[in-house]
Amino acid sequence: MTHINTLIESSLAIVKIERESYLNALNKDVIEELSSELQVLENNQNIRVVIIVGSGQKAFVAGADIKEFSGYSVEEGEALSKKGQDNLFNKIENFKKPIIAAINGYALGGGLELALCCHMRVASENAKMGLPECSLGIIPGYGGTQRLVRTVGLTHATEMILTSKIIDANFAEKIGLINAKTTQEDLLQVAKNLAKGCIKNSPKSLESAIKCINKNFDKNGLTFEQKEFGKLFGTKEFKEGVSAFLEKRKPNY
Ligand code: CAA
Repeated sequence: MTHINTLIESSLAIVKIERESYLNALNKDVIEELSSELQVLENNQNIRVVIIVGSGQKAFVAGADIKEFSGYSVEEGEALSKKGQDNLFNKIENFKKPIIAAINGYALGGGLELALCCHMRVASENAKMGLPECSLGIIPGYGGTQRLVRTVGLTHATEMILTSKIIDANFAEKIGLINAKTTQEDLLQVAKNLAKGCIKNSPKSLESAIKCINKNFDKNGLTFEQKEFGKLFGTKEFKEGVSAFLEKRKPNY
């Protein structure tokens, strides 16, 4: 594994995404490695809770890798969304043990979507969160249109998605996007405290509770999101949006 580094502390696993020079952006390798690491941890009877964190001081995850998908067709766009959802994001949501996102900086696009499918989220004071995909000529494709609405409600989710607004940890706490906010120094400790609260409980109860909580949500929206995400890869605006990011300029729509 080159992009995932796991530290085991008794019954807790701390999984770090290591792609710091690209702000831990999720390319295919990161997604595959994270997915297989989580599979190992799910099968390990000694592990009771998982924490996911980004490497460095700046980012949790700055989104899906824009460079990697910049030349994608409609079919490839839809497949990117479906594969990511099937192999990683939905797996995390349905993981048998609690997973906590420790948001240590930017959590944008796929990064916030990763945090949203975790069962709980804590963020450091420097964290910035948002779904800026509409500024790139696409939409959130890793479940954001569904899970942000579920988490913070229609009012805030719609504003965040349609305006690409980036919010700070104070606002995220206010709207219920995160469970707790703390200093960057204390972030892992706060996540560990949440983990401890789960570890003292029955593992079978936690597994069952996660399944029941997830039953609240209709999964059809996720498939619809994949199709819409793919369709946008056929537009001129998508080409303009990602070119503008890669050329470090503002898009002209
Ligand atoms: N994909 C690919 N590379 C990325 C990236 C991403 N999502 N985010 C950052 N990087 C790269 C930058 O290109 C840069 O690389 P170079 O040094 O080679 O130029 C490096 O990481 C450092 O980033 P910046 O120089 O941009 O750092 P900054 O401090 O000036 O800005 C930032 C930080 C505001 C987070 C900015 O990097 C940014 O806007 N990133 C993109 C955020 C975004 O739009 N995310 C959504 C992606 S689309 C998505 O996620 C789709 C989906 O739902 C499936």
